[in-house]
Amino acid sequence: MDREKLIEEAAKAKQFAYVPYSGFHVGAALLCSDGSIVTGCNIENSAYGPTNCAERTAVFKAVSEGKRSFEAIAVISDREEYVSPCGVCRQVLAEFCGPELVVLMCGRDQTYRETTLGELLPFSFSL
Ligand code: THU
Repeated sequence: MDREKLIEEAAKAKQFAYVPYSGFHVGAALLCSDGSIVTGCNIENSAYGPTNCAERTAVFKAVSEGKRSFEAIAVISDREEYVSPCGVCRQVLAEFCGPELVVLMCGRDQTYRETTLGELLPFSFSL
């Protein structure tokens, strides 16, 4: 797995973030099991609630293209500190990924902390 390439793709996706309310740009890149990479950015809304995080944009794009098996996700923002997926995105990832999914939480300089979905969302809910 080329972690640096995945992070680079997340950083590129960040430029498309639609963030008129928070000004907080986030990009995500999902490595699919077929080797392809699907990216996403956060897309905000004046009603706030419909805002979609970068991670979910990437997952929904991938699933809508018939991809449901994933190896890793990288997420990056404008902040110096590593950005960590929100609780809703963790649950959405858990719908399609096992606890072994690699999660790369990046700072804006593309350094990262590596973890797994299992560490971020232990005892996840499923039907
Ligand atoms: N956001 C993400 O895109 N991913 C996260 O994991 C955390 C939050 C977005 C949502 C909103 O557009 C902005 O960051 C501030 O919460």
